Amino acid sequence: MTEKQTVLVTGGCGFIGTNFVRLLIQSGEYRVVNLDALTYAANPLSLADLEENPNYVFVKGSITDRELVASLLSQYQPTGVFHFAAESHVDRSIVSAEDFVHTNVVGTFTMLETARAYWKNLQEDRKEAFRFLHVSTDEVFGSLGPDGWFTEETPYAPNSPYSASKASSDHFVRAFHHTYGLPTVITNCSNNYGPYQFPEKMIPLMILNAISGKPLPVYGDGSNVRDWLYVEDHCKAVKLAFEKGTPGEVYVIGGSNEQKNLNLVNKICDMLNDIAPPEEVPQLHEQGLKSYKDLIRFVTDRPGHDRRYAIDSAKIRRELGWQAEVGFEAGLRRTIEWYLQNPEWVDQVSGGSYGEWIKKNYAWRDAKEAK
Ligand SMILES: NC(=O)c1ccc[n+]([C@@H]2O[C@H](COP(=O)([O-])OP(=O)(O)OC[C@H]3O[C@@H](n4cnc5c(N)ncnc54)[C@H](O)[C@@H]3O)[C@@H](O)[C@H]2O)c1
Repeated sequence: MTEKQTVLVTGGCGFIGTNFVRLLIQSGEYRVVNLDALTYAANPLSLADLEENPNYVFVKGSITDRELVASLLSQYQPTGVFHFAAESHVDRSIVSAEDFVHTNVVGTFTMLETARAYWKNLQEDRKEAFRFLHVSTDEVFGSLGPDGWFTEETPYAPNSPYSASKASSDHFVRAFHHTYGLPTVITNCSNNYGPYQFPEKMIPLMILNAISGKPLPVYGDGSNVRDWLYVEDHCKAVKLAFEKGTPGEVYVIGGSNEQKNLNLVNKICDMLNDIAPPEEVPQLHEQGLKSYKDLIRFVTDRPGHDRRYAIDSAKIRRELGWQAEVGFEAGLRRTIEWYLQNPEWVDQVSGGSYGEWIKKNYAWRDAKEAK
């Protein structure tokens, strides 16, 4: 049996981080040290079942705390870093960008500085094998017109304070490779969806609002396009890029699954109409709701809203053999089911506003499934 690698994961209690930590632990190949500040976006319940796992260590703290990061690297001697921690919500960055600069720019710089100090003193073979994997977004490339795709060669043109902070972090990662030789790999991924996503993001927000009979707010005319990827497929791509990617390289990752926002919301409503018809949900039945689509409301567009994102993942497919495995219909259905089956998790992040409702109104589904 090969020995497990120890790795430092930042932001492992967030949406993608949670799915990623699970993937590493389940692979049996890794021991994970998870550094997370537990901001509003984190849910300690997400990884609570791993608390006793000997291959999992949780450390509450910030990536901006240089001494803490240096002490973790020195204590656990990881073979690499997976850097997920970030402020990640575009709308919040429009209201105030300060936390985004602090976490995404200063935090990433701190991670790079401490990783470099640790890496340069490693023995030659360990030094060569070390990787700093930086997880980033396709939003750094700005907005596409009706044609074309983002590739590794697309020039940076961030439009929101969030994407500007991520672009800045990408540039620092690139510079640390170019200047100091730190073996970095950058991945830029399209929109993710799946279990454990905080319900301010579009898909969980629509699911949870719909099942509780609340309005479904769609920005502008709903024609903005995003390329959706199931979160487990993204996690597999990040693991591959760490294990097989070439230092200094960038890999863009997408689902080849472009959806207009309005189509996506309609699709969620169609699936919900099938999974939990409103007439079978006690309070929605009382409200007289016939279809979840009747809850759709168009609202004022987000300022500077990018029109279209789409990714050409040819490089990671060709060079690392990655490809998305979960189809959109199957992934979306899995996601809807997960939110319906996890009211405690939902309550923990939403301050108790949805979970009780789910238990009260959707319990009939459990009884039906048990038959
Ligand atoms: N969600 C997407 O669709 C998507 C797509 C492409 C790339 N990304 C990138 O993937 C990464 C993870 O995104 P996500 O959606 O899981 O985000 P998230 O907001 O769900 O989770 C972020 C996590 O980082 C932690 N964190 C925040 N500030 C911290 C700090 N100073 N120190 C330590 N931990 C801190 C939070 O507590 C949280 O657990 C981000 O870097 C994001 O830019 C996300």
